[in-house]
Amino acid sequence: MDLNPKPWTQTTVVGKAVPRIDGAERLSGVTRYALDVSLPDMLFAATLRCPHAHARVVKVDLSKAREMPGVRAILSDADKEAQIPWYFNGYGPNARALSRLFDPHCRYQGEEIAVVAAETQLQAWDAVRAIQVEYQQLPFVTSLEDAQKPGAPPVQDGGNLASPASVYTRGDIAKGFAEAEAVVEETYRTSCELHTSQEVHGCVAHWDGDLLTLWDSDQSPFDIQRGVAELLRMPLSKVRVNARYGAGFGSKLDTSKYMVAAALIARKTRRPVKYFLTREEVYLCVGNRPAHLMKLKAGAKKDGTLTAFELTAAGEVGAYPGDDNVGQMVQELYTCPNVKITEDQYFINAGQNRAFRAPGFPQCAWALEQTMDALAEKLGLDPVDFRLKNVAMVCQTEENRPYTSNGLPQCLSEGAKAFGWKEARAGARGEAAIVRGVGVASGMWGYLAPPHATVIVKYFDDGSANLNMGSTDIGTGHCTVMAQIVAEELGVPLGKIEVESADTQTTQFADGASGSRSVMITGPAVRSACLDVKAKLLAAAAAEFQVFDGDLKFENGEITGPPGVPRTPARRLRFVQEQGVVVGVGVRAPHPANKSVRPFCTHFAEVEVNRRTGEVRLVRMLAAHDSGRVMNLATYSNQVYGGITMGIGFALTEQRILDANTGKMLNANFHDYKIPTALDVPAELTVLPIDPHDTEVNSTGTKGIGEPALVPAAAAIANAFYHATGVRATVSPITRASVINLLHQGRKQG
Ligand code: MOS
Repeated sequence: MDLNPKPWTQTTVVGKAVPRIDGAERLSGVTRYALDVSLPDMLFAATLRCPHAHARVVKVDLSKAREMPGVRAILSDADKEAQIPWYFNGYGPNARALSRLFDPHCRYQGEEIAVVAAETQLQAWDAVRAIQVEYQQLPFVTSLEDAQKPGAPPVQDGGNLASPASVYTRGDIAKGFAEAEAVVEETYRTSCELHTSQEVHGCVAHWDGDLLTLWDSDQSPFDIQRGVAELLRMPLSKVRVNARYGAGFGSKLDTSKYMVAAALIARKTRRPVKYFLTREEVYLCVGNRPAHLMKLKAGAKKDGTLTAFELTAAGEVGAYPGDDNVGQMVQELYTCPNVKITEDQYFINAGQNRAFRAPGFPQCAWALEQTMDALAEKLGLDPVDFRLKNVAMVCQTEENRPYTSNGLPQCLSEGAKAFGWKEARAGARGEAAIVRGVGVASGMWGYLAPPHATVIVKYFDDGSANLNMGSTDIGTGHCTVMAQIVAEELGVPLGKIEVESADTQTTQFADGASGSRSVMITGPAVRSACLDVKAKLLAAAAAEFQVFDGDLKFENGEITGPPGVPRTPARRLRFVQEQGVVVGVGVRAPHPANKSVRPFCTHFAEVEVNRRTGEVRLVRMLAAHDSGRVMNLATYSNQVYGGITMGIGFALTEQRILDANTGKMLNANFHDYKIPTALDVPAELTVLPIDPHDTEVNSTGTKGIGEPALVPAAAAIANAFYHATGVRATVSPITRASVINLLHQGRKQG
């Protein structure tokens, strides 16, 4: 049996908007998230963090803290076992240790100096306050612009350039701009956006002999198992990471200092340790979408044919290297023969850049899609028509390979129709106090790494099944969708499927829940494992009924065959009854060779701008998505609603504010860091799935929705703002103060 067949042509469970299999548990609070794990004799940990933007620790005096009630251990750089070099992502094979677990050179407000474990959480915090530290404060930089200035205080030895400029070129941009009949050029700036996970970051660490277990709130248990094992010099088999109820929008992918510190302090005290960050620490330390400066120049002919793109971008990585690149959509969303992209990244004295839902892409969309809007206007073309003319059907960054599918033309045209684009666009701008406008923006998401997952499906002799897989459901409904595949293939009702997931000891390796890939990575492996079960059932039936297995069929949990073979429920087969279980194994096959895989999307937004108060209100939004097959419209739509909500934050409200005088973050709390609330999200959100019936991408035909759901949202809002006001908002977020400045001072945003 082919374990990697073409996608289904007909389905009965896959594609249905079934409720989440764990929905009732999650809603009623029964679900045991990592934060809920409580073990007998557990200690609680708290961290002393550097209060300064840039400082050297001269002296740490723990004597008073050690005497505080309930304190059982303190871990600091004075402990030999804690002198662990710390690496940062973005440096690849040339990784350099730029820090250590407790580095006396603190490069941002929030760097770890010591961890206390005490009998209660409050005792731990009290002891942290009793630690006395002498700091030598150092000059600091708090912005991308300042970091680039000659003579700026260096964040790292060797200065503030985090990585050498990366340059991408194709064609000849000088020729491209010479051929252009319209050229636009603008500088865009996006602000640093902070991770605001509902469940704060942290873990519970427990040693059972030499086996370390971490109950961790993360999205990539196998990566974290590997990271912790390497840092503590342990075999993989001795590190167990359980992220059954995972989470994270990119900030919970990597091994973090609290994991290693929790393990060390649990070993030292021979007690389980619960170590979770506070909300303030999450804002300071767990990572962010870095600020970007992007100068984008674009040229086109009168008929709308693009001739050249030139992007010069600078990103702000924080105190340690990161890897947010913003060029990919400029490279490949639209057909353009001449492209040049130059990207730099700079250190500043603040928390580091980390993956954040579609790293680099919303920033890129902010610049690219506003540029497309401006260019369409200059050419006198409708922005939808202009984009339609330039959609790329081959992947220009991957040797012009065709995409397995590209539904972007349908996203644009069917989206425009469903939104009522032409009618809404025709409305005059007017001079009223409150003006309305509509905008459009497109996007895509790029896949970087090859996919891996091994899945086991157990089919029991009562006709129920266990799905055993390494991937974690970070709130997307992943487990439900995977169970739908089992139900589809084996005819087992959803209520009889138990999903066992994301535990490195009891499930098999799967890539982390990142890159919008969980369904498209693990899904085909689940299908393979089910087909393996099916093949074994057919072989068992063939032996039992003395026929060729090729003459038998498996349908809805039953074996049927030529005359003489009784219709038999698979669970009743002699082999199944005797063995009690049939085990199927599925392994994710590679991506198709010589093709590129991308989801695509177009968002339409309508906004209302109050020209007196500067308030921007989102009236409605429509999101047309080609993410391949829709596995479950309910979980799919939830991803889109969430993506749009994040896009509203990116466009209108979210920004880290660092005080230039002290270098400290001024809004490290829920009140002052403004994520959108229910009042900011319009009731009218429409999801329009575009299914291109991709038969090549993988055996499920699906491409992933999590990240594309966010990518163009903010840019569509910015374009609607321009349509409403006639003024281009180049800086994100478009705050009320900036709107007032923009409208009064003309074209430049203050
Ligand atoms: Mo993501 S930013 O790939 O979790």
